[in-house]
Amino acid sequence: MAEELFIAQSSREEKYRVLLPQAKALCASESNLVANLANMASALKITFDFFWIGFYLVENDELVLGPFQGPVACTRIAFGKGVCGAAWKQNKTVIVPDVDAFPGHIACSGNSKSEIVVPIRKDDQVVAVLDADSSLLNDFDQIDAVNLNELCEWLGIHCF
Ligand code: SME
Repeated sequence: MAEELFIAQSSREEKYRVLLPQAKALCASESNLVANLANMASALKITFDFFWIGFYLVENDELVLGPFQGPVACTRIAFGKGVCGAAWKQNKTVIVPDVDAFPGHIACSGNSKSEIVVPIRKDDQVVAVLDADSSLLNDFDQIDAVNLNELCEWLGIHCF
C-alpha cells in the first residue's frame, strides 16, 4: 500500500476505527520487525499526537527500548518495574490515570501525566509492550484498551 495514512478528524474511537485496518495493511507486506514497529509508532503518533508512544521489547529479564516517537526515554526496564514492567509481569493492560499516583512509575519525562501499557503476545508469551504516554491526566480509557489490544494482538501474531 502507499505509505500514506488517512486520519479521521473526529472522536478517538472513530480514529481507531479508521487507523487499525490501515496499520495492519502497512505491516502486512513487510517482514522486518523494526520497520513495522517504527511505522506503528509513527501512525499512532500522528493520529493521536500522544506525548510519547513506542515499544519495549522483552530481552531476557528486561524490557529494552524499541521504535518510538517522542522525547528520548529510558532504555531498559526490569521485570515488574514501572508501568511497563507491571504490564509484562501481570500479562495484562495497565491504565494509569495519574502517573504520580502509581507506585514505582518510571518518569522518563515530567510532562507525562497518564499512561497505558498493553502487552504484545506471541504463542502466549509476552514478547513486547506498547506504551503510550499523554501530557493530560486521565487520558486513556477502555476505548484505548480495546483498540490497542486489537492492534497488539495482531502485531504479536503477524510481526513477531
Ligand atoms: N513510564 C514508563 C517508562 C517508560 S516511559 O514512559 C517512555 C514506566 O513506568 O514503565
